[in-house]
Parts: sequence; C-alpha cells; structure tokens
Amino acid sequence: MPKVKKSKKVKKIKKAKPVIKKEKVEPELKTFKVSAKTPQVLRGFKDILPSEQRYWDSIREKAKQIARDYGFERIDLPLLEETSLFNRAVGKETDIIEKEMFSFEDRGGERVSLRPEATAQIARAYINHGMLNLPQPVKLYYLGSMFRYDRPQSGRYRQFNQFGFEAVGDIHPVLDAQIILMTYNFLQELGLKTNIQINSIGCALCRKEYKIQLINYYKTQRADLCPDCKLRLTKNPLRLLDCKEEKCQAISEDAPQIVDWLCEECKNHFVKVLEFLDALEIPYNLNPHLVRGLDYYTKTVFEVWPASQGGSLAEGEEKKAQNALGGGGRYDTLIEQLGGRFTPAVGASIGIERIILKIKEEGIEFEEKEKFDIFVAQLGEAAKRESLGLYEKLRKEGFKVAESFAKDGLKNQLEIANKLNVKYTLILGQKELAEGTILLRDMEGGVQETINYSKIIKELKKRLEK
Ligand code: HAM
Repeated sequence: MPKVKKSKKVKKIKKAKPVIKKEKVEPELKTFKVSAKTPQVLRGFKDILPSEQRYWDSIREKAKQIARDYGFERIDLPLLEETSLFNRAVGKETDIIEKEMFSFEDRGGERVSLRPEATAQIARAYINHGMLNLPQPVKLYYLGSMFRYDRPQSGRYRQFNQFGFEAVGDIHPVLDAQIILMTYNFLQELGLKTNIQINSIGCALCRKEYKIQLINYYKTQRADLCPDCKLRLTKNPLRLLDCKEEKCQAISEDAPQIVDWLCEECKNHFVKVLEFLDALEIPYNLNPHLVRGLDYYTKTVFEVWPASQGGSLAEGEEKKAQNALGGGGRYDTLIEQLGGRFTPAVGASIGIERIILKIKEEGIEFEEKEKFDIFVAQLGEAAKRESLGLYEKLRKEGFKVAESFAKDGLKNQLEIANKLNVKYTLILGQKELAEGTILLRDMEGGVQETINYSKIIKELKKRLEK
C-alpha cells in the first residue's frame, strides 16, 4: 500500500478550533472553522447529524401516527411558491412578509419565495386540486421545512421544520377543539407538559368595531409606545396587543378586549369550542392578548407554550410566547380570498426543533432505533469475499447485521462489534472456510462455538427467536 505523506492540509485540520459565536449556541450548532476558505453553514441553518436523528425519527413517527389516528392524510407541498401567494394569505403588513421572506426573482423573471409557512399552500392546493368535491372536511397533514429570515437564537432558525395539520371545509367548532386536542395529545405523548393559550379574534365584522375601540385607546397612550407599535397603530392595530416590549405590555393590560366585541355568531362559536375543550378536560388559559402574527385568522386562535418555564411573569410570558411550541387557529376566509369558494378551515403547526430542544431540556430519552443483532467479522481475502454473500443472506432473512469489511484485523472488528452492542459476532477465517464451519461468538460472555456453515442461519434464527 502506498504511504500517504503528511500534508500541510492534514496539519491544519488537527489545529482546528471550534468557532464559538457570541450568542448562546447549541452544541450541535458549534462548527469547526478549518480555514477562511472552508464553506460554512449559513447563519440560522443547521445540519442534522446522525446523533440527532433518533429525536427526528421518533417525532416524525409520532406525528404520522397521531395524524393517522385522527384521520388526516399526508400532503407534500413545494418549498418554493409565487411570492404573491404568501403576500395575499399571510398579509403584507405582517413581520413574516415585511422582514422574513427569502424572496428572489427566478431565471424567468418571476418573484418566488421559499415558504415561510404552509397554511397558505394548503389553501392554494385545495383550490388547485378541486378538493371541494371531496367529502368535507378534507383533513391534511404535512411535515417539512419552512424558511424565515428571523434573527437566529436558541429555538429560532432561518430553516426550521413543522408538523402541521389542517381540517378544510367545515365551520363546526368541534373541529377547532379537535385540532387543539391533537396538538395537546401529540406533545403530551412525547412527554411534554404544555400550556394552551386561547382567544377568539372574531370575524371581519366584529373586528371592524373592535379596531376602532383599540385605536382610540392606544392613541391616548401613543407617547409611551415603542416605535414599532406607533407604526402598528395605523398598519396592524391587533398586533399592538402582543408586543413584547415591557412598556407596551403594561399598556396592553387595560386595552379593550376583543371577546367583549364579538358578534353573536363568533361569540357562540368560541363558547362552543371552550365547551368541547372542557368536555375533553383539556386545560387552557383564556389569553386576551393572543392575536397571532398572520393575517388570515378568524375566530379561534391558540398557541401551545411549554408548561415549565420560570422567570418573573413578564419575562416568562415573553419567553414563552417567543418559544411557542406550536400555534394555529381558524381561517374561514382564506380560501375565498385566494379565489376559491367560501371554505372555512382550521389548523395548527408545531415546530419540531423547538420540541427537540424542550425534550432535551426535560431529559426525555428516545431509544436509538438502529440496533444490530449480528456482526460479521472476516479474516483473509477469501473469507472477505464469502462474508459479503453471507451478509446479504442474513440481511434478506431479516437480521439486523453490521460489518466492517474494510478492516482486516480481528481485534479491530471485535472492538466495533462491541461498540455496536451486538449479541453475536460471526467470525469467518481461512480455517473455517476450508472446514465448512464458522465461529459464533456470544458477545456477552465471550464464549465461541464452531457451527456448521450451512446451518448458521437456522442456528441464529433459533437463538434470536426469529
Ligand atoms: P406559526 O406560529 O408562525 O404558525 O408557526 C408555528 C410554529 O412553528 C411555532 O409555534 C414554532 O414552534 C415554529 N416556528 C416558527 N418560526 C420558527 C423559527 N424561526 N424557528 C424555529 N421554529 C419556528 C404557522 O406557521 C401557521 N401556519 C400555523 C397554522 C396552521 N395556522 C393554521 N394552520
């Protein structure tokens, strides 16, 4: 084998030091900067490494199971859409549209955006595929990446993943309760204790009156508002209520509450949703300041906050709202707004990265999925060739088999088998090959037996009770 000279490059790699950014960085976001020329992952984006995958696998599995349990079908939607879809659906004066979209002109000159959320897409897909002809409500769920040019910090990324579920085509309040129930159960079954915040922001009719009252109140406090809220006063008055600035939060305490201005229909709807939640014994907090950051909502809005967060009330509340695990609500006019027929709908999305952070914080463990039963070790060229075939036979029989065919020494291979925690290692060398046998090593006690090569699969089936 040719000798590999130690190059300068190799030395450089050895010297590499972790680059720790000033902000608090999660361990998996720390990167090693090899040289100024080495490409780095973009700020707010991250690689999901093999060591993290057990969380992702378990959460995706749980998401799929819960969606199936409640009769939701999977839909996969594109990552890129016409920018105008989100402008029209999410609302031009929201933070998402004003500051957070990854938008650009494609080569054909069309304005396109990476999706910041998927509810707008659900509405588009519902219209595009004539889903109004299906039995209603159409229940759809999605799992995938969203993109927002947000200021990255713990629990806030520029690419993040959501599990979302939407019931489209029915106005009944039982669906609002079912969506909240699903959100609650999903997180509960993952071992997370949550706190549901709920409000109703009514319909266009009740909001019209309410907005006048709200603006009148805030005008009297204008001098004390933060610069953003001064703008909100004319652009998006509802968002005055969920400003995170301490001064504005204090002002919002005495602001008129929308529930007092709901029309008869919206009030009845809200009461029914709460009655269903009571019947299901789902705990919730009525939160008059909850308005959500997307313009398409009507009637019910809700968020799920982690239950165990400390700090003073003001600090704690702010932190919780910033790190909401999920949120959703009703959007009865969105589909009509996008050119479809009147089609009421309700849904929610949950942030997977935020759940994983919380799961780790709580010390909840998920089992490593990939456990191997058997390791195939080999000694010598002829044995290596035979082992390749044996490995395939075992794999096809349904055994979980590991190997390290690129290694030659038995010691090395046994060390790997040990690390993988396999039950048995099969050892095939020149001698065994010549005799038509194979060694079966019980990794727990280290006892080795010689087995007839043609009987090894039968023997393993017996021992592993397959
Ligand atoms: P949203 O509140 O914007 O709602 O996002 C839902 C969840 O996505 C948040 O609660 C959070 O867990 C996660 N999330 C949002 N932004 C980030 C970020 N920058 N980094 C990490 N996680 C994030 C929606 O997206 C609506 N489409 C929900 C909905 C569905 N409404 C009706 N149906």
